[in-house]
Amino acid sequence: MSENPKIKQLLDLREQSHLGGGLERIEAHHKRGRLTARERLDILLDRGSFRELDPFVVHRTHDFGLEQQKILGDSVVTGWGTVDGRLVYVYSQDFTVFGGSLGEAHAEKICKVMDMAMKNGAPLIGLNDSGGARIQEGVVSLGGYADIFLRNTLASGVIPQISAVMGPCAGGAVYSPALTDFIFMVRNSSYMFVTGPDVVKAVTHEEVSFEDLGGATIHSEVSGICQVACDSEADTLYQIRRLLAYLPQNNMEDPPFFDTGDDPLRMDQTLDDLVPDDPSKPYDMKEIIHKIVDRGEFYEIQPNYAANIVVGYAHLGGHSVGIIANQPAVLAGVLDINSSEKAARFIRFCDAFNLPVITFEDVPGFMPGTIQEHGGIIRSGAKLLYAYCEATVPKLTVITRKAYGGAYDVMSSKHIRGDLNLAWPSAEIAVMGPDGAVNIIFRKELSQAEDPIARKAELVAEYRAKFANPYIAASRGYIDDVILPSETRPRLINALEMLSNKRDTNPGKKHGCIPL
Ligand code: HXC
Repeated sequence: MSENPKIKQLLDLREQSHLGGGLERIEAHHKRGRLTARERLDILLDRGSFRELDPFVVHRTHDFGLEQQKILGDSVVTGWGTVDGRLVYVYSQDFTVFGGSLGEAHAEKICKVMDMAMKNGAPLIGLNDSGGARIQEGVVSLGGYADIFLRNTLASGVIPQISAVMGPCAGGAVYSPALTDFIFMVRNSSYMFVTGPDVVKAVTHEEVSFEDLGGATIHSEVSGICQVACDSEADTLYQIRRLLAYLPQNNMEDPPFFDTGDDPLRMDQTLDDLVPDDPSKPYDMKEIIHKIVDRGEFYEIQPNYAANIVVGYAHLGGHSVGIIANQPAVLAGVLDINSSEKAARFIRFCDAFNLPVITFEDVPGFMPGTIQEHGGIIRSGAKLLYAYCEATVPKLTVITRKAYGGAYDVMSSKHIRGDLNLAWPSAEIAVMGPDGAVNIIFRKELSQAEDPIARKAELVAEYRAKFANPYIAASRGYIDDVILPSETRPRLINALEMLSNKRDTNPGKKHGCIPL
């Protein structure tokens, strides 16, 4: 090693900075089953690709004895690296330094890396593990958060922003992840809430654990705040790497083409018999998706939240696509408040980042009932409608079975700029299902019929023969073609290529007023 004292000093300082809160705290952190901020970056990024920014930044606080505790780099590690060779900007909060709490210097480091991500057009990934605003720094910490929130908002729709919650994330601190596009959480070791269990108890007298208040399971199954819940820190970081493979670097780029080796002309004959004849029988829409996409690989987002709609990413002929699918296996695939909002948000992300939207439709309509009406299904359904209407990316629709009522219009119909709308022979495109329709339009006749049950069966059969098929819609051109289910993969890939130069715009405006 060089004897040059200046070189030695730099190496010493580097080592100090790398140790963050010191060996004792690192050991305590490990004992709790947690990785350090730097170990997390090592897993997330390609080996040896991390380049650090600001390892020598320290806080400037003189209160509460903090002037005696200046730790090089403060409580966050920032910089850039690559994932599968593609540039990403990162920050990783270091719990071993002041509990990862965010003060002025910490916020400035994050803002610097956010500004670089925006200027250079690459995704930003934040690994959150923090006790929140640094209490000793007071309002300066709050200002630091607001500086980050502003940048999150300005970056929205320009670069993909991904948050992983690897430990505590409480109070106003939750709003930075909440403003980003994806939240990943680690089961049993991360939590997010606006107020913790103690405050909850004092205000509402509820007793609740950290996990039950804001753990990964709650947020991925009940609140819908978390897009992907993982079993370990390593798996969380691996899942982020997987997600990035589908996304472009920024809104000016197309998503990456990925040669999966799967034959674009591959046809799966089993699809021809997958939809049951009996329209009241469920089937698993995910089976259809897996049979159609490249190598059967579907990266599902929020699989356990509002499972009556399925959303996620896949490759089709190597092209990245976003898939939205009604799920007849859960609540008959009905649209309710949560599924409408889940899909609307997903579509808007796809549209912002040039990902074609593929819709697989089997929907009996919107969910009836006071819970839904009083909860604002009208507003939530409107969000989904709005998201589909405003999207200008290629939009392909496959109706596998039911397309009833308003839900027919909403789910990427031709009328709202669907580019190619296909139906399987099993499709039923009508104002409502045969049973409900006959009850309404033949109410008088049925009440006077000698044998109302037999007469109703006749009328239902008549209605079904007339309307419960795709050909009336196809005769109007509302459906571009009726296809064999087994042809779906080649037809979709061909359509994606046909639409690869699609240009469509919305009227110039500051922004629309989506019914939030
Ligand atoms: C300064 C903090 C800190 C904070 C933790 N530490 N949080 N220092 N400001 N916000 C320090 C602790 O003093 C301790 O230092 C070390 O970090 C580790 O903390 P522990 O409490 O020992 O760890 P643990 O038992 O794991 O508990 C973690 C925790 C707890 C649950 C996060 O530390 C905690 O409740 N912290 C306060 C959380 C909070 O109320 N933050 C403000 C939220 S409001 P030593 O030196 O003793 O080891 C907010 C507003 C943001 O963030 C608003 C934005 C708009």
